[in-house]
Amino acid sequence: MPLDSDTAEPILKVSNIESYYGPIMAIRGVSLSVPRGKIITVLGANGAGKTTILKTISGVLDPQKGSIEFEGKPIQRIDADKIVRLGLGHVPEGREVFPFLSVRENLAMGAFLRSDKDGVAQDLERVFVYFPQLKERIDQPAGSLSGGEQQMLAISRALMNRPKLLLLDEPSLGLSPILVKEIFSIIKRVNAEQGTSILLVEQNAKMALETAHYGYVLEVGRVVMDDTCERLMSSKDIQEFYLGAKEENARGERRWKKKKNWR
Ligand SMILES: Nc1ncnc2c1ncn2[C@@H]1O[C@H](COP(=O)(O)OP(=O)(O)O)[C@@H](O)[C@H]1O
Ligand SMILES: [Mg+2]
Repeated sequence: MPLDSDTAEPILKVSNIESYYGPIMAIRGVSLSVPRGKIITVLGANGAGKTTILKTISGVLDPQKGSIEFEGKPIQRIDADKIVRLGLGHVPEGREVFPFLSVRENLAMGAFLRSDKDGVAQDLERVFVYFPQLKERIDQPAGSLSGGEQQMLAISRALMNRPKLLLLDEPSLGLSPILVKEIFSIIKRVNAEQGTSILLVEQNAKMALETAHYGYVLEVGRVVMDDTCERLMSSKDIQEFYLGAKEENARGERRWKKKKNWR
């Protein structure tokens, strides 16, 4: 599908960022952009740098180089709490709900910046439409929920701040295939119904490519390929290395050791 990114200003523009952990360079000059109202994915194996990119965008980590623009304004080296106020929500890897607080209290934490009570009440009803399981468990401590329910809660908590852009760090991690499907269908609905722009990082390439409009492939801190998800899905390299297609040649040997040819 065509992206109108060429003309309209993207909601997020990351230009040539480099991020380090001490002396270790984890992000080696990454550029990407999220057009307003779209779902963009960053695919990559474990350790590729996906989490580091999101941490750098949300201000948890400062980039050593490069720039990050949110709605046209530079946000690199601005504190994480100020970035949240600008309308950027981050659902971190491993969910990180407050385990001793109830579902209701976790959701209230997500809305604590807001003073529009009616709007908050409406949004609470809306997350319960997306995830009725949470309504059933509203007074339970978040720590007693299943992994899938905690992921739903983490996403819902971020939605309670009505973010313009939502950063999602591997929402599929550790969940059953059925739950993964459910969560991804809600991600699509949030995007379609509320117009929320989404940057989704995933190891689960199949789900991410089925969900997003445009994708970047990250390897060892660098973007090695980017294209529409449709074209990425039909790329032989993506099929072989990220979608687990295991073609057999005439002698019945696996071809998975073949060198990638996209660099
Ligand atoms: N806190 C940390 N300290 C040092 N190195 C780290 C830290 N977190 C991640 N790294 C390293 O940075 C690289 C990118 O990690 P990460 O962004 O977590 O990858 P991904 O999310 O794609 O699995 C990896 O080599 C990882 O070992
Ligand atoms: Mg990660």
